[in-house]
Amino acid sequence: MELCVIEGDGIGKEVIPAAVQVLQHLLPDLTIKTARAGWDCFNDTGISLPEETIELARSCRAVLFGACSSPSFPVDGYFSPIVRLRRVLKTHANLRPTSYLPVPAARAGVELLIVRENTEDLYVSDEVTDEYGSVARKVVTRAATERIALTAYKLAEAAGRKKVTIIHKANVLPQTDGLFRRVAFEIAEHYPEIETDDLLVDTAAYLMVKDPMRFDVILTSNMYGDILSDMAAAWGGGLGLAPALNLGEDVAIAEPVHGSAPDIAGKGIANPTAAFLSAAMMVRYFWSMNETAERIEKAVYKTLSAGIFTGDIQPSGAVTTQEFTQHVIQAL
Ligand code: NAI
Ligand code: MG
Repeated sequence: MELCVIEGDGIGKEVIPAAVQVLQHLLPDLTIKTARAGWDCFNDTGISLPEETIELARSCRAVLFGACSSPSFPVDGYFSPIVRLRRVLKTHANLRPTSYLPVPAARAGVELLIVRENTEDLYVSDEVTDEYGSVARKVVTRAATERIALTAYKLAEAAGRKKVTIIHKANVLPQTDGLFRRVAFEIAEHYPEIETDDLLVDTAAYLMVKDPMRFDVILTSNMYGDILSDMAAAWGGGLGLAPALNLGEDVAIAEPVHGSAPDIAGKGIANPTAAFLSAAMMVRYFWSMNETAERIEKAVYKTLSAGIFTGDIQPSGAVTTQEFTQHVIQAL
């Protein structure tokens, strides 16, 4: 078994090595191969996602990715490494669960799964600028929508979940989001035992704050899935605890929902839980080792239950990334 490890920038360089420690503790035969990507890599080499990194990721098929700092203004030659990597590895689905964890800010009973389309929408990053302003292309295809909808319903069925909510903005975008909504409902017809409803994304955002328990599986496009998954993370206890897995045919990228957190990077205080739980998703969904995944999840749960928190978990969080990691390894 091989794992391509891309730490990226900022706290990626702290939480990803911690997750590798946990994986190596459980899977001593795992071969780790490291590769570079991100802003630091761009500044050193002139490219944010080198060809060697893509090749290594392809050959390992399993990738653990931290986060990369992407500037919010155009930089000649720079592109977002994770957006590109998801596309070149054809990881069509981005699974982002929110489950209750024993921390003060988490909401008991929340147990939702966001299934986010991962290859198109505004994330084709196709923008043009002229003297009047800028235009971005939004892409929705029948094929990609069928594929993500099927993934959502298959996962819902396998997990015994009861409801899928399709989230879109088809009232304003009847062609792109209208297609997404229509095709998703077509797939839903094959799963009559699962309830399906749909919501406009603004209403969905309101309801996610007001009544998160109304959601079970959420099926949505790339941009809405990005935004709603950070919102959902608040109910799981915070961004430092929110895991994700990008899933394709015979390839997967485990990746925390959070970014490179420049405000706390380099201090050794980042919460590695999201990275641990993302690694557990890889173990479960890609390597099909359910028991090993559960061991990671239970060790995290036990550590948090004992009140051992990094600084992002208020009011009492104080341990460092490494102290937290050692507690989890002990719990294993
Ligand atoms: P962020 O997720 O990095 O941070 C948001 C807030 O949450 C910050 O206050 C941060 O300290 C806190 N936080 C996040 N993860 C944490 C953790 N594990 N432990 C403790 N606190 C944590 O989002 P932000 O600040 O909007 O973006 C920073 C950079 O990250 C940007 O350059 C952005 O492009 C990049 N980014 C990269 C992603 C990726 O490569 N997958 C995903 C999201 C953002
Ligand atoms: Mg995001």
